[in-house]
Order: sequence, then structure tokens, then C-alpha cells
Amino acid sequence: MKKNFLIGQISDTHYVSSKEKLFDKIDTHNSFLRTIDACNNLDQIPDIYILSGDLIHDIEIYYHEFFNLCKKLNRPIYPMMGNHDVRSGLKKHLSKNLIDEKGNVNYCIDSFNTKIICLDTAIENKIEGEINKYSMDWLKNTLDRENDKHVIIFMHHPPINIGSLLFDHIKCQNGKEFIDLISKYNNVKEVVFGHVHCSYTTKINNIIFSSCPSGSIEYPIDAKDSSEMIEKSSIKLFNCSEFEISSKNILI
Ligand SMILES: [Fe+2]
Repeated sequence: MKKNFLIGQISDTHYVSSKEKLFDKIDTHNSFLRTIDACNNLDQIPDIYILSGDLIHDIEIYYHEFFNLCKKLNRPIYPMMGNHDVRSGLKKHLSKNLIDEKGNVNYCIDSFNTKIICLDTAIENKIEGEINKYSMDWLKNTLDRENDKHVIIFMHHPPINIGSLLFDHIKCQNGKEFIDLISKYNNVKEVVFGHVHCSYTTKINNIIFSSCPSGSIEYPIDAKDSSEMIEKSSIKLFNCSEFEISSKNILI
């Protein structure tokens, strides 16, 4: 089992296609190519990539090009559901071990010395998120079984307010229940989310909560409306050792 490893997180790419632009102005194809290129030129190439939701923007056919481009990352990828993903379409591109028996995209990555939990917070046809009853029980059972390793949890929707007019009302609606649960486990060290398209970090009950900025569009945390979008790409890197997890955002 590898003791030190690097996770690359790419979030909210909102990929459309090489022939279209998102909202008629954002070139998500080019920004994803730049992201891939930046990843392949890092001093240390990540061992795996976690794609924390909103991989594409609303239309399932975009997955075909998106996943073809992902092959250029040359590393295992772990896709997650976001509110702009299409559950039935995404599942066609996932191996069965990433889908639980109720059809949620809940899974663990156990190949490393830190346990990685990818938690599904997407609700069909809704922008806000929620951890459904099955997923919450799955999370509890998963944490109950893991006593030794540090745990890092990835989810699309934030379980907390970050002080954003645009995103706080569409966060994970039962985030408090989630925090109450994970706070009982001393080995849960970090929770990372996408969805908010900006950089944010805080600490609650000794657990770090942080966001991954978007792979295509940034909304400043104090944006008053969605027209304040900026075309900007970032990735987040997590250096995980047996003893600590450190992270940094890389602007592309
Ligand atoms: Fe998004």
C-alpha cells in the first residue's frame, strides 16, 4: 500500500463540446484541455484524479467527448455526481463498483493509506443537494468500519454556508446532520466539495472543510449575481501521507 500519494481534484468543468460554448461564451473544451495539460506537466503527477461533479452541463451526450478527453490524464479517474450531471448518462461510463445497490454514486477508494470516501449529494432535477437516508446510513457504516486510517470525504454540494449569495441556499440541505455524524469520528480529517466555483476553507470540530475551485468558471465568493462569472480554471492537489493531508489550489 502506497504511503505517500497525491490526489488531483478537478471540479465543475461543466463540459459541453468542442463545437459549443457554455452560455455561448465559455470555451469548456479549451479550458479542459488546458487543465489536462497542466496536470500532465506538474512536478509530481497525481496518482489519481477525483472529478467532483458537474462534469458536463445538463446534456448526457457531452459525456462521450468528456470521458474521451479524460484518457489523456493517463491516471485512474473517479467521477462523482453534481447537480448538472445526468445520473443515468453518467452511470453508463462508470464501473459497477462506483455505484451502490440503490443507484447512488457512493464509493470508497481503499488503495492508499488515507481512506477516500466519495459521497453522492445530488437529487434528481434539483440544484440543491441532499444526502439521502440510504447514503447517510452507508456513510455511517463505512466510518464505523474504518478505525485505522485518516479519512477524507469528497462531495459535490457543501454541507455548510460559505457566505455566498449564489450558493448558500443551494448547498447540501442536511449538512448539519452530516457534520454531526462525521464529528463523532476522530479520524475524519477533511471534507472537500465543489459546486461553489471559488476557493474557501474553514475548520469545524477539528475537521477542515474546503472547496475546489472550478475547472472552467469562477464566481467570486461575494458575487451578487451569476453574471459575475470569470473564465478561470483551477485544480486542487492533496498530498496525503500516513500522518497528514496538505492541499493547495493550482490556478491554470
Ligand atoms: Fe457547478
